[in-house]
Amino acid sequence: MTRLPCVARMSARARHGLIGSMTETTLPEGTLPHDWRMVDEGWGRRSAEFATLSEPANCREYVALHHALDVRAGDRLLDVACGAGLALELAALRGASCAGIDASARLVEVAQLRSPDADLRVGDMHALPWGDATFSVVSSFRGVWGTTPGALDETRRVLVPGGRLGLTVWGHIKASPGAWALAPFRLAADPQVRNQAAMVSLGRPGVGEQVLARAGFTDVRRIRVPFAWEFPDPATYARTLASTGPAYVAIQQVGEERFLAEAERTAVEHRRAGLPLRAEIEVTGFLARTEGAR
Ligand SMILES: C[S@@+](CC[C@H](N)C(=O)[O-])C[C@H]1O[C@@H](n2cnc3c(N)ncnc32)[C@H](O)[C@@H]1O
Repeated sequence: MTRLPCVARMSARARHGLIGSMTETTLPEGTLPHDWRMVDEGWGRRSAEFATLSEPANCREYVALHHALDVRAGDRLLDVACGAGLALELAALRGASCAGIDASARLVEVAQLRSPDADLRVGDMHALPWGDATFSVVSSFRGVWGTTPGALDETRRVLVPGGRLGLTVWGHIKASPGAWALAPFRLAADPQVRNQAAMVSLGRPGVGEQVLARAGFTDVRRIRVPFAWEFPDPATYARTLASTGPAYVAIQQVGEERFLAEAERTAVEHRRAGLPLRAEIEVTGFLARTEGAR
């Protein structure tokens, strides 16, 4: 484990800036410092493509976690790292009143288009700009990582006593039949690839449970979350992948042309006549509660 300075517990004024204290926390080996203000550069640069190609491919995950959390009318739900907000739109269809936060201003703009009535903020998940005990449910879809454990303290703070938390993280990627679909991210520079490994550490056996218990959550339960990306052809897959943050990091290293070419080449090997390209990837979910009345 590496001891790194980590931004934790910042003021609610930190909607757009980095205001607050630096504390030390224990992070997995390989973790790179995280500056949320740089996130939009990677995640927001292709916001329309991310919103319309990438997010819809995650629909099974959203539906399954909302179902496991029993999201319903009367819930006040916060989605942490809400991206372009498709999951929030689906939660509202179940009757929840919705809020969301993401570091990418351009993705939040799409989320607001999709959910005009939702309370959406641009900001850092380590400094949630809401008061204590505001929400009955907090979700996060591959938004809280082994490299961002401080975000869980903030999540607990904004949940009511007995509030429900649902998180998803990548599971055992190498053992997944669709592992090939994430392989182009490994074109990034070595430290970035090591950081990707540190990010997915929450999914390892026992790790997420321990981190959640340490953050003060109870009734921690691990669930399997269905996840299968489907694309009509290799070019659409490559374009979709290129709209994500980890792709941006790889593109910085090898250039966009090579990234797209490698992604397409990989996908062609998995093409089957008359069928969509399909990549099933293991995703792990965690359900937990805050202490107190239900
Ligand atoms: C894997 S994407 C998930 C997005 C969305 N939940 C979805 O299902 O498509 C990770 C998201 O985390 C956001 N993000 C990264 N660091 C953040 C931070 N410190 N605070 C808030 N959001 C952050 C990115 O902008 C991106 O939208």
